[in-house]
Amino acid sequence: MCGIVGYIGKKNTKQILLDGLKELEYRGYDSAGIAVLEDGEFSNFKAVGKLVNLEEKTKDFKTKSFAIGIGHTRWATHGKPTEINAHPHLGESSYVVHNGIIENYATLKKELQTSGVTFLSQTDTEVIVHQFEKNQKNAKNSFEAFAKTVSQLHGAYAILLITKTEPETIFFAKHGSPMLVGINGENEKYFASSDTPLIGHCQSVNYFEDGDYGYVTPKEIAIFDKNGVKKEAKFSPLSQNKLLAQKDGFRFFMEKEIYEQSVVMSDTMMGRLGESEILFDELDKNLFDGINEIKLCACGTSYHSAMSASYLLERYSKIRTSLEIASEFRYREPIMSKDTLFVVISQSGETADTLETLKMAKTAGLKTLVICNVDNSSMVRLADATILTRAGIEKGVASTKAFATQVTVFWMLSLFIAKLKNSLSADEIASHISLLRELPSHVKVTDDMHERIKRLSKRYLHGHGFFFIGRDIFYPLALEGALKLKEISYLHAEGYPAGEMKHGPIALADPELFTIALLPKHLHYEKSKSNVEELSARDSTICAISQIEFDKADDFIEISECRHYMLEFFEMMVVLQLLSLEISVRLGNDVDMPRNLAKSVTVE
Ligand code: F6R
Repeated sequence: MCGIVGYIGKKNTKQILLDGLKELEYRGYDSAGIAVLEDGEFSNFKAVGKLVNLEEKTKDFKTKSFAIGIGHTRWATHGKPTEINAHPHLGESSYVVHNGIIENYATLKKELQTSGVTFLSQTDTEVIVHQFEKNQKNAKNSFEAFAKTVSQLHGAYAILLITKTEPETIFFAKHGSPMLVGINGENEKYFASSDTPLIGHCQSVNYFEDGDYGYVTPKEIAIFDKNGVKKEAKFSPLSQNKLLAQKDGFRFFMEKEIYEQSVVMSDTMMGRLGESEILFDELDKNLFDGINEIKLCACGTSYHSAMSASYLLERYSKIRTSLEIASEFRYREPIMSKDTLFVVISQSGETADTLETLKMAKTAGLKTLVICNVDNSSMVRLADATILTRAGIEKGVASTKAFATQVTVFWMLSLFIAKLKNSLSADEIASHISLLRELPSHVKVTDDMHERIKRLSKRYLHGHGFFFIGRDIFYPLALEGALKLKEISYLHAEGYPAGEMKHGPIALADPELFTIALLPKHLHYEKSKSNVEELSARDSTICAISQIEFDKADDFIEISECRHYMLEFFEMMVVLQLLSLEISVRLGNDVDMPRNLAKSVTVE
């Protein structure tokens, strides 16, 4: 995910910005840039790829004395990772950096273009600086123009803006994306989107709250809340532990990524939810012309999200959907017909088997689409169309937020196609959209839930195996739960369709066999329940996950009240992720780097 830094002071501004960006490298990025204002003159540098490229471009640049500067590392979400799309973005005499997504950027952009503004980039960010300069024309001062601009933005953002008319000031705004300002005894001010760049420079920091905006000069930190009321900064000591800061205080990146899901899923949906339609601006509507089947192809966790998608696409889009494991597909001489849309799913966009199947589909003349988390990855470059999942970099080898955002994209895609094919009414689509809007609150990890799972985990450390069972779309979720557990705990776990147990696997049932049962209230509850009862009657140890209390279970994890099975799906997903995490922690394993596994499998 993107990173922001800012600096006001007399030290080597360029180096402070570059060092700060380096501290944010772990968050992932595909381009970077800085803008510095010294003696009324701007210097701006941008580069695609790693920070060394930006260092190379800035090697002859040095500030002499006092300057202000802003810097950014960009993870592409709107527009390709090119130099033009890299931040900071320039208006006529101002620069801006931004994290998050401006939901109403298209409307603002159209208005600005009508009034004669020329846009250089494809980003949503560029509207901020042009809107600010437009407001400057009618405002008493730059702060008034900035405050007005902030009030016109919808979405999630952390923003820093500098302008020639205020050469000692950095304007800031925060809503939904993190941002802090740090101070030391040397009359300097540091900004960043997370603690790490400030460690070693500042002793205390103020974390801005949602809705905060204002300005900072060498002498003043002026903060206003969302109602425009001035407030005091609340400084707290800055922890000096970098690794802990990178993990935002969590024990593992995987844990941080589980907790992050609520935010990244909001990002996935941002700007894509209309009143009664899904807006995928990146998709050409003709993509689906002449298409009678969708073929989904992926590996591992991405395959599980593909399998989840197959239920949604057939149920809501009424389109025939088939599923392929990439490593199988590539060698089995498959029949490929041109009325099939070939969809690959990949967090990294680099998995060798999946990439190869995409090449096969292209060679066979099929239309192709990739659901991916990394812009400019091999798959994104190759496919005809791309939907980015916007999960930000995933560092934990065991995939969590990538899966969550993939399934979110597929839920939206099934509604997008349903509209094209008229398979759901506008009212039905609107009611799904209102469910999607509820999603982020359902994947928020509560202390109570985490504590309960932590406590329960001690009973699931041994035994001769785990069965994760579910029906319908809860079957791929069961597969994913089992994969998570085996990857990081090294315990044997299998996912099974609940109704299949009696066709063989139930022979394994005894008290040392652990069954993790997914019992959604809103999808085949009675059927799934009777499958679990069959196992309970054979004395298997059962942990039921449901919103309905289940008295035949040895353990019960209650999810919160949900009004639709897809909300239950995502609630249970979080429970399964936490359960794997806590079992593995108790077993003393390295959760982020499990044995024998790599994050990106670029070999066959
Ligand atoms: C499991 C996991 C893997 C990946 C698989 C495909 O937690 O991460 O199973 O899902 O290697 O990787 P991508 O999605 O990058 O193609």
